[in-house]
Amino acid sequence: MTERKAPRRTTGRKLNRRDFLKLGGAGLAGAALLGTAGCGGGGSGSGDLIFAMGTDTSGTLQNLIDKFNKQSKGFKVQFREMPTDTGQYFDKIRTQFQAGGGDIDVIGADVIWPAQFAANGWIADVSDKFPESERQKFLDAPVQSLIYEDKIYGVPWFTDAGLLYYRQDLLEKAGYSEPPKTWTELQEMAEKVKQDQGIKNGFVFQGDQYEGGVCNGLEYIWTNGGDVLDPNDPNAIVIDSPEAADGLAIEHSMLQEGVAPQSVSTYTETETDPAFLNGDAVFARNWPYMYALAGTEDYPDVKPEQIGIAPLPVAEGQGESASALGGWNMLINAASDRQEEAWQFVQFMTSEESQRIRTLEATLLPTRTSLYSDQEIRETVPVVALGEVALKNARPRPVSPYYSDMSLEMQEQFNASLKGEISPEEAVGTLQESLTEIVQAGS
Ligand code: GLC
Repeated sequence: MTERKAPRRTTGRKLNRRDFLKLGGAGLAGAALLGTAGCGGGGSGSGDLIFAMGTDTSGTLQNLIDKFNKQSKGFKVQFREMPTDTGQYFDKIRTQFQAGGGDIDVIGADVIWPAQFAANGWIADVSDKFPESERQKFLDAPVQSLIYEDKIYGVPWFTDAGLLYYRQDLLEKAGYSEPPKTWTELQEMAEKVKQDQGIKNGFVFQGDQYEGGVCNGLEYIWTNGGDVLDPNDPNAIVIDSPEAADGLAIEHSMLQEGVAPQSVSTYTETETDPAFLNGDAVFARNWPYMYALAGTEDYPDVKPEQIGIAPLPVAEGQGESASALGGWNMLINAASDRQEEAWQFVQFMTSEESQRIRTLEATLLPTRTSLYSDQEIRETVPVVALGEVALKNARPRPVSPYYSDMSLEMQEQFNASLKGEISPEEAVGTLQESLTEIVQAGS
């Protein structure tokens, strides 16, 4: 069956000027004026289907694509590598959409993107292909990240939650039998191990001015009882609170007290991997994928058995841990004229078998619930059982068609507060205003 080419849609409601610009309407209008609006659709109907995704550090993606290509009848898939940094990848793909669709058919997409892409009509509504009976086989949080105005716009691929990695061997040597439960305990333990055992750094995390910096900043805010949005009213910004400010103050204290090196204010995940896996840090905050890199050719110094994983610590007096919910979904370009082939590939990549391979080889957390009780996975990938615990406390970043704007504001303020250029109070005060303005302009 061949699908009709999905018509390009707008949001279906009247847009004010700010909406129009923010949602990329200017790009669409520009493309229409140039007469390109109708022919930008992904793929040409022949040739390879194009699949975009950020750099694959695990080396498992191309193997899976090769496997698909071997069994596929009539078409092949070509991998187009996009930037590792989710923000840079987002900008690239948005530019292509604004210019009329681009040639990418299937998009490996961050969980923070669907609302914005769906609001613009850039990605295909797959509600009929992915009915409730199928959605039930997946974890709920990633499914929710794909729902916009009651329709679903893709299939969950793998999920992510911020984890505390620690050097179990070093902690044991120092007489600690458990990982830290609070940020204060983490600081004390890091200091002791650093001094007694001559380890360069206590803690490394992602403090750079980019999306990962937002995830880290939010985790300090949440684990200190603060929040960005009012849980009872998603249009109300509540970030200007003592709890949120104190959360950012804890993050800043990591640098100020020398627990973390000053350079973490420029760290992304890419700098975190060697900092921890070369043996120079006692603790690290990172996503599950880092576990797969331990003991490999690139990182022979720290072996998986030397690493422990725990939920992120909380501030003194706080109860439950909290992590940023991350992860990646498979979306289809609405302008692609190869909807049916794209769907075949999405089904293949999100199948139980493919997810199983990625979990075993790349320690990525599956989105299919059945894999959490898979015996081999539980025995060989400890990060899955521990990740399951962290996922229970994982919280989404604000779900909004304006999230990318909100994120840019948080990136700037969190990074400036981390570096001590502004106080945490100033950061949350500024964000209260700028985020409110963004949310109000969009409602
Ligand atoms: C991980 C997460 C993603 C997040 C990104 C930030 O890739 O899965 O959701 O936005 O890290 O760097």
